[in-house]
Amino acid sequence: MSLKGKNILLGVTGGIAAYKAANLTRLLVKEGASVKVVMTPAAKQFVAPLTFATLSQNPVLTEFFNPENGEWHSHVKLGVWADAMIVAPATANTIAKMANGIADNLLTTSYLSMRGKVFVAPAMDLDMYAHPTTRQNIEALKSVGNIIIEAESGELASGLNGKGRMAEPETILKAMSDYFESDKPLQGRTVLVTAGPTYEKIDPVRFIGNYSSGKMGFALAEAAAEAGANVILVAGPTKLTTLNPLIKRVDVESAQQMLDACSQHFNDCNAAVMAAAVADYRPAVQAEQKIKKGSAPMTIALESTPDIASTLGKMKRPGQVLVGFALETENGVANAIEKLKKKNLDFVVLNNATEAGAGFNCDTNHITIIKNSGEQIDYPMKDKKLVANDIINQILLLLTPEKQ
Ligand code: PMT
Repeated sequence: MSLKGKNILLGVTGGIAAYKAANLTRLLVKEGASVKVVMTPAAKQFVAPLTFATLSQNPVLTEFFNPENGEWHSHVKLGVWADAMIVAPATANTIAKMANGIADNLLTTSYLSMRGKVFVAPAMDLDMYAHPTTRQNIEALKSVGNIIIEAESGELASGLNGKGRMAEPETILKAMSDYFESDKPLQGRTVLVTAGPTYEKIDPVRFIGNYSSGKMGFALAEAAAEAGANVILVAGPTKLTTLNPLIKRVDVESAQQMLDACSQHFNDCNAAVMAAAVADYRPAVQAEQKIKKGSAPMTIALESTPDIASTLGKMKRPGQVLVGFALETENGVANAIEKLKKKNLDFVVLNNATEAGAGFNCDTNHITIIKNSGEQIDYPMKDKKLVANDIINQILLLLTPEKQ
């Protein structure tokens, strides 16, 4: 199953099969998905929102506006948040609204705002299910890319027997999981990612380093692996771990070691993302013994480290994509563009070291992507995992089949 880490929006409509959606919520959560549930007003008459809130561990969304706390539930935010939406059970009424773009409740409005895949599991009486209007609506939903998990045959709530029972939660789970399994746009590609700081030794006990935690680079490695890539993660000193079998980790300490590892692997890669905070300078001489404390002020002569991104920029073949970061405190765009050109990058990811919630050692980042075409995309502040997805999506646009 491959729903780990996925954000799933479960839409529950007003049919007796709503009780099965509770089990579906439980299964999705068990598979590692984050689940938010949105219910139509009629659905609340079948199952209490509290059931879904307890199972999903998220507040259930039923109205646009909550008068109790003044909170506005934005369908637009839900559409951006969710990797996929599943409407289960989907009544004939909701299917008809979805097919015709009617947005009169939070569920149908969220559907129109969805960026990810939408799955629909119809549930209704056999005659409604067979009705030409319903079949036409279902075909209309399929024609715009939605995945229909057809209803099954059996005893129906009406007492009749026939096709109309909602597919079992296990069947729905499998359909979603199969979709994500096959949705591996980087399958067969290799991506090199650098992460974390480098330590440049002064003597056996001291070094020059920086505050990089490795979170941004590790999130990129995970995102690339989730998209099916074989990932070579060249990591400076960090406490982070990764379990994804597609990630091959190479631990290094200094800029020179990072350069050696990257140069060794870059030729075999389709893309490389330089998220590491590489020290720009290192002591010109490393003392072999611990430097003794003296009374006189101390000076350490520094020399430049090799520039890894520039080196790869010179090695780059047509079709390979090279992405760098620019960590700035002032004149961000101008400095980033200079790095983009100097290092022969395809695009540069600008972030600000002094902005709260961005840059070093936090779980979120605020980035602007600047392409060598001149296009700039400013993203809102978000979790580094989602930032990583945005960067991988931009790489995918450049990795056209003819450029492989
Ligand atoms: O690790 P986290 O705590 O999650 O923090 C993330 C981050 C802030 C480290 C990350 O988002 C980031 O900005 N990484 C790049 C930091 C940096 O060194 O930026 P720079 O502007 O100094 O370097 C420009 C680019 O050249 C970077 O891609 C860098 O990896 C690369 N470089 C720099 C120096 C050098 N000697 N060799 C390089 O390859």
